[in-house]
Amino acid sequence: MLTKLNHIAVVVPDLVAASENYKTRFNAEVSESKDLPDHGVTTIFVKLADSTIELLHPLGEDSPVAKFLKNNPRGGIHHLCYEVDDIGAAIDKLVGEGAKVLGGGAPKIGAHGKPVVFLDPRDFTGVLIELEQH
Ligand code: CO
Repeated sequence: MLTKLNHIAVVVPDLVAASENYKTRFNAEVSESKDLPDHGVTTIFVKLADSTIELLHPLGEDSPVAKFLKNNPRGGIHHLCYEVDDIGAAIDKLVGEGAKVLGGGAPKIGAHGKPVVFLDPRDFTGVLIELEQH
């Protein structure tokens, strides 16, 4: 079902500082920041040859990463995103087996313009997993 690791998302207390850190310490290519109001985050992408690191910062009152940052004030790894060929089939299989898809279970358009869902970390050894259709 899973094909590639698409990105690792890291919540950071200061997007500009985190972006500069990747740029100056690793000579990494980083994007401009982008607000994703539907997801309650502002993102900056660090581009790697075969993957991406997403730097996330809360956006708005109901940001899903605000509590994470409160609990982890220096930031930390927030989720892993795997690519799937058919997100509808993936959801049906997982839900059929008793796994929980967060946010009502329907895919939303994610940071890369593709349908995504998040899976309950309690079903995956404490790791929040995002599936993105490709
Ligand atoms: Co993500």
